[in-house]
Amino acid sequence: MMTGIPSGKPSPRERGQFVLCGCQGGGEAALRLRQSETLPAFAPAAWRRGVATFRIGPAGFDPPDDFFPDFVFARTVVRSLGQSSGSTVEVAAARVRELVGGGAWDAVHVWSRDPRGELPVAEIRAAVAVACGHDPAADAVARPGGLVLDIVLDSIDRWWVGWHRAGTPSSTWPGGVYPGRLPESAVSRAWLKLDEALAVFGLEPTAGELAIELGAAPGGACQRLLEAGLEVIGVDAALVDDRVAGHPRFTQWRMRAREVPLKKFQRCDWLLTDMNIDPASTMAALARVLTGGTARPRGIIATLKLPEWSRSAEIDGWLDAFRSWGYEPKARQLSTAGREICIAARPVGRGTATPRRRATRRRGE
Ligand SMILES: C[S@@+](CC[C@H](N)C(=O)[O-])C[C@H]1O[C@@H](n2cnc3c(N)ncnc32)[C@H](O)[C@@H]1O
Repeated sequence: MMTGIPSGKPSPRERGQFVLCGCQGGGEAALRLRQSETLPAFAPAAWRRGVATFRIGPAGFDPPDDFFPDFVFARTVVRSLGQSSGSTVEVAAARVRELVGGGAWDAVHVWSRDPRGELPVAEIRAAVAVACGHDPAADAVARPGGLVLDIVLDSIDRWWVGWHRAGTPSSTWPGGVYPGRLPESAVSRAWLKLDEALAVFGLEPTAGELAIELGAAPGGACQRLLEAGLEVIGVDAALVDDRVAGHPRFTQWRMRAREVPLKKFQRCDWLLTDMNIDPASTMAALARVLTGGTARPRGIIATLKLPEWSRSAEIDGWLDAFRSWGYEPKARQLSTAGREICIAARPVGRGTATPRRRATRRRGE
């Protein structure tokens, strides 16, 4: 008889021997590659579009509740407990309750492994919440530290059931998918992509700082930074949308990244790249700025496009390059982005100047 996951420390059986990772459809092989490089003791098990499962290893290893493997392509990581199915949503929801037992959940996350299936997520979430004694009207976004019941929809009548403890920002979101919305006024989807990157990596560009983006047109990311009060320079041969171009704190340098004189990066607090070029060329553009001159931005947010998923084999080399430049990088495939990864990096042994002091210093106050 199960005692239920939420009451006290679950037994190993209840804790599950498999993790289920959600990922972008098509990214499963890249996810498995990252697992083999970072946690080879995990054994690949089943995978389907949008999910991959791994047996936890080595034998006897019982990961802590807030264990988040750094698989880059894993949007969320769930401790798998089994499956539920039924002739109706209510029957399947009752089976979920049998599987997990009683006890309170801080949040219920219901998400579809393949959003193209257009399954009735809200209806299923309500039925599971009622069956498990959870308030169906409660916020789906978990609080950090909260215990989350996960229902991963394979089809309308086949669900995988699991749990995780929320810790990282993305683990508070159902399926690890960013719940932010693109404002109608945004000039491109890159607005939302940057919004997610700031949330995922806990970055806070501050009003008065200077950001330079390589690959800026049509200007969604620059627009997001302008809204945060920054001074923004967009580097791109293509035209930036008038709504951004006309902003008093925006300047465009209409040229390619390599044509910008290095001394112009000297004051840069935030360096962003979002160029639709080979990732090796983006890395070369970053190396030029970070090693060729005196620029020492306090944050880097780099998009590296993956022309093929197999290019994910180069991620460790890219991360090493950031380290060789004196930065501590983190990589993640954002849920609002396409086939690309985002690397966010902070300088190792950051200076003591706070953003506000730096901005004041620049103004000569
Ligand atoms: C995905 S779009 C950028 C979207 C943009 N970040 C936004 O917020 O809307 C890619 C851009 O990279 C630019 N690009 C490609 N190669 C470049 C280079 N060598 N230097 C600067 N920009 C480049 C393209 O002109 C294109 O506008």
